[in-house]
Amino acid sequence: MSQTQYHFFFFISMLLPFFIVSSYVHSQIQCLEDQKTLLLQLKNTLVFNSSYSTKLVKWNKTRDCCSWDGIECDSAGHVITLNLEYETILGGIDNSSSFFGLRYLEKLNLAFNKFDGEIQIYNLTHLTHLNLSHAGFGGQVQIELSRLRSLVSLDLSATFMTVLKLEHPNLKMLVQNLTGLRELKLDRVDILAQGSDWCLVISSSLPNLRILSLIDCNLSGPLDPSLLPLYYLSVLRLDWNNLSPSVLALFANFSSLTTLSLCHCSLQGTFPAMIFQMPTLQYLDLSLNELLSVTVPQFFQSRSLRIMFLSSTNSSGSLPNSISNFSMLSTIDLSGCKFSGSIPSTLFNPTELTYVYLSGNFFTGSIPPFHLSKKLTHIHLGNNRLTGSLSSTHFKGLLNLEYIDLGYNMLGGSIPESLFGLSSLQCLHLSKNQFRGAVNEFSIPILLACIP
Ligand SMILES: *[C@@H]1O[C@H](CO)[C@@H](O)[C@H](O)[C@H]1NC(C)=O
Ligand SMILES: *[C@@H]1O[C@H](CO)[C@@H](O)[C@H](O)[C@H]1NC(C)=O
Ligand SMILES: *[C@@H]1O[C@H](CO)[C@@H](O)[C@H](O)[C@H]1NC(C)=O
Ligand SMILES: *[C@@H]1O[C@H](CO)[C@@H](O)[C@H](O)[C@H]1NC(C)=O
Ligand SMILES: *[C@@H]1O[C@H](CO)[C@@H](O)[C@H](O)[C@H]1NC(C)=O
Ligand SMILES: *[C@@H]1O[C@H](CO)[C@@H](O)[C@H](O)[C@H]1NC(C)=O
Ligand SMILES: *[C@@H]1O[C@H](CO)[C@@H](O)[C@H](O)[C@H]1NC(C)=O
Ligand SMILES: *[C@@H]1O[C@H](CO)[C@@H](O)[C@H](O)[C@H]1NC(C)=O
Ligand SMILES: *[C@@H]1O[C@H](CO)[C@@H](O)[C@H](O)[C@H]1NC(C)=O
Ligand SMILES: *[C@@H]1O[C@H](CO)[C@@H](O)[C@H](O)[C@H]1NC(C)=O
Repeated sequence: MSQTQYHFFFFISMLLPFFIVSSYVHSQIQCLEDQKTLLLQLKNTLVFNSSYSTKLVKWNKTRDCCSWDGIECDSAGHVITLNLEYETILGGIDNSSSFFGLRYLEKLNLAFNKFDGEIQIYNLTHLTHLNLSHAGFGGQVQIELSRLRSLVSLDLSATFMTVLKLEHPNLKMLVQNLTGLRELKLDRVDILAQGSDWCLVISSSLPNLRILSLIDCNLSGPLDPSLLPLYYLSVLRLDWNNLSPSVLALFANFSSLTTLSLCHCSLQGTFPAMIFQMPTLQYLDLSLNELLSVTVPQFFQSRSLRIMFLSSTNSSGSLPNSISNFSMLSTIDLSGCKFSGSIPSTLFNPTELTYVYLSGNFFTGSIPPFHLSKKLTHIHLGNNRLTGSLSSTHFKGLLNLEYIDLGYNMLGGSIPESLFGLSSLQCLHLSKNQFRGAVNEFSIPILLACIP
């Protein structure tokens, strides 16, 4: 309900009995009789399991169809949104379906169902948002989708179970007329494209694209400069493809980029430090590129980066004190790399810092106090070469701390009692260090709560 509607509702409800109010509110948007009939027909033709359904199962003619779950109407009473995600719908939808009568539909979401037949929705020419992700469809993507020229957002992401292919039609045939698309998600669709062809196809057809997600699409070409005309690109997710040998400096040319996700892309060489300087970048994932070398540069201007995953890369060097210049940082994962030197005390300055994974590196020196980051829940520093001892100030005020791994280091001294008073702590790994005193008594019961 909008602010104005709310105030109006409140005002009226002070003066009139409730039944008058509710009939008034309903009369504002009332479902047209033909729309209701079409929806009830649709409900009858769809095969779904009523023990799992939360929307369809509740549709019935006693109520205005514009108030049914999953339905939105325009001011004239036409159904413009149909959201049937997670309804366990089986089978297909053919020409005879009452879908075609719902000709005003703008948003259709059938995500997370179990369709196995065809679905013929290409007559819904007003569609702006179509979400068929995890809907169950396999085989070739239907060419008919390419006729939905009003589309702004298209999501065909598949599951691991279904094999969805873009071969006939290919990527070009699918998108070349969908020039209004701002969001395209084809995760796990097998895109059969030669080399870098997909870059040119996307950039020449979809100049308005903001969000591009092609995770695990069997792409084998490097990223190509032909992608650069996508001025508005803000989210780029290309994880689990073979993008070797890409020119990594290209990414810095997308001046609106907020998310860059390139996990497991067979990237090689040196990651350009200038990408850390991008003023818009909030999310960077380069993990599982074993041949990629990243060094965290000395000076940053970026205050936007929140999430940084560099785990299992060939990254090395030490962390500069200026790392605290990433003042919005909430997650840093550098595990399984070759970082060395001491852990800068400034690392724990960012107030949003929640997850710190530095395990499996060559960090030396002592552990700086964590207490500046009050939101910390996970600290993983295991498998390094850390020395020195822990004091009670290390853990001061860390009321949210759930998981600490300091195992496999060379820490000594006694374990501060305050560690065991942390109310949220579920898991504590201290083994394989040189602590003095009754370690075992304390750590064993807590260790049991650790998820392996
Ligand atoms: C619906 O789900 C329930 C619970 O899993 C199951 O017992 C029932 O057989 C299902 N019905 C159909 C028609 O698949
Ligand atoms: C129709 O749906 C409403 C709300 O879900 C429910 O309260 C009512 O009992 C239903 N009526 C019939 C006839 O099923
Ligand atoms: C659906 O309609 C199209 C064109 O209108 C036709 O080619 C196709 O055979 C029809 N499919 C079914 C299952 O009726
Ligand atoms: C779909 O649109 C085509 C062309 O406008 C039309 O010939 C056909 O009859 C429509 N099919 C249905 C099932 O409405
Ligand atoms: C499609 O729907 C699913 C399920 O709600 C959601 O996770 C996904 O983000 C949606 N896709 C788009 C492009 O909004
Ligand atoms: C795209 O539109 C053009 C011009 O309207 C048309 O000739 C072409 O067949 C369309 N392509 C696809 C794949 O629908
Ligand atoms: C990936 O594409 C190649 C052809 O380029 C094909 O032979 C292979 O089966 C595809 N792999 C998967 C998992 O679809
Ligand atoms: C990419 O950015 C670099 C540095 O800002 C610039 O020199 C280069 O010309 C740009 N490339 C393209 C193709 O725009
Ligand atoms: C990994 O990084 C080291 C520098 O730390 C470099 O000497 C080595 O060549 C890199 N390995 C690969 C495969 O890039
Ligand atoms: C970055 O951090 C360094 C050292 O902590 C500091 O001297 C410098 O002023 C910071 N730069 C910016 C742009 O905040």
